[in-house]
Amino acid sequence: MGHAIAQIMAMAGLDVSMTDVSREFMQKGYDRIKWSLEKFVEKKTINQQEMDTALTRIKLVDGYASTVSNADFVIEAAPEDLELKKKIFHEVDASAPARAILASNTSTLSITALGSATKRAEKVVGMHFFNPPQLMPLVEVVKGASTNDETAQAAIDLAKKLGKTPVLVRKDVRGFIVNSVLGYVFNEAFWAMHRGEASRDQIDSAVKYKAGFPMGIFELADFVGLDIIDSASKEMASEYADRVKVPPVVEPMVKAGKLGQKSGEGFYNWKTGRPRIPFELADEFDVDRIYVTAVNGAAWLVHEDVAVPEDIDTAMKFGAGWPSGPCELGDRLGLDTVVAKLNELHTKLNEPSYRPCPLLETYVEKGWTGRKAKHGFYTYA
Ligand SMILES: NC(=O)c1ccc[n+]([C@@H]2O[C@H](COP(=O)([O-])OP(=O)(O)OC[C@H]3O[C@@H](n4cnc5c(N)ncnc54)[C@H](O)[C@@H]3O)[C@@H](O)[C@H]2O)c1
Repeated sequence: MGHAIAQIMAMAGLDVSMTDVSREFMQKGYDRIKWSLEKFVEKKTINQQEMDTALTRIKLVDGYASTVSNADFVIEAAPEDLELKKKIFHEVDASAPARAILASNTSTLSITALGSATKRAEKVVGMHFFNPPQLMPLVEVVKGASTNDETAQAAIDLAKKLGKTPVLVRKDVRGFIVNSVLGYVFNEAFWAMHRGEASRDQIDSAVKYKAGFPMGIFELADFVGLDIIDSASKEMASEYADRVKVPPVVEPMVKAGKLGQKSGEGFYNWKTGRPRIPFELADEFDVDRIYVTAVNGAAWLVHEDVAVPEDIDTAMKFGAGWPSGPCELGDRLGLDTVVAKLNELHTKLNEPSYRPCPLLETYVEKGWTGRKAKHGFYTYA
């Protein structure tokens, strides 16, 4: 991720100093930048001169002190290890100018904890890019408990300068927006399979061909990596014990070395390429279950003031490729219908995950049932 972020900065006209643990790794990152820029030239997205100019803007530098000594903005993309990142933030804080904003590309770790490793927690922010950053439009800008508004705004402005679409995550919750909503949806699919209510193929077929998601849920889980899904869902369950219960599906697979695409096997066998999801099973799983789970997950984010509906919808469309965001979807389905479906599932399966978020219940009580009432997550003319 680090080299790709350096690349898009340079393509946007910014001077970049890039570092890593050794010259060899820095050179590897630089070679990948060159490879990616060549692809852009081949596809005529940029011309040769723009590629050459971008490369001249990138310097490889040894050590944090020299790398950040004149920085306005530092973006850390080291491995996902809190202690390692805290050490990096501590050292960078000591060398970067007082004006510099320190950002992390972490997918799961606490921005508040990273801020507390520095003497400038108000200037520490999350900038969560999506992979590959050269192509994916979304950046989640994440406020830690001490991050001030100016810092969040500067991160939003920077993302825009890079040609990205930023969304604001106002609270430092695990999973931010995209992985939080996806986490609820993964759990729904995993539980449905685990309880024997539907098969992997039935669920993926419904999600892909009826809901129009770019991938099936199990296919996406394999693509992300089951080790990552396993640790992210456990973190969500520990933060939201009242509403998230991890199904005993992924952990045994991880223990057996089945990590998804990267290990050649997960829910699917990837050794012969991308799985073929059968089209003919699309009617055999009630895709409304995925919809109401996503709407409920989005409602929790609004209820807990993590994000506004517009940003949640933008995040799911640009970060996960969903054809609709969960808030606009909820308004279209009717929030009364969503709550009724959640209650029906709750009665039938007695799982806390189906408990409707209080925000949805309040909206329905007020008659804010979505588009048909001209008021739901959004208001309509
Ligand atoms: N891979 C993804 O899809 C993805 C997406 C969004 C965010 N992220 C986040 O981006 C970060 C990096 O992920 P990645 O997949 O690029 O990891 P990676 O392991 O591919 O790259 C990490 C890089 O950091 C270097 N590094 C290790 N220790 C370092 C140190 N002490 N100082 C400086 N550099 C050091 C490594 O040599 C390596 O080049 C993580 O926080 C991850 O959660 C990853």
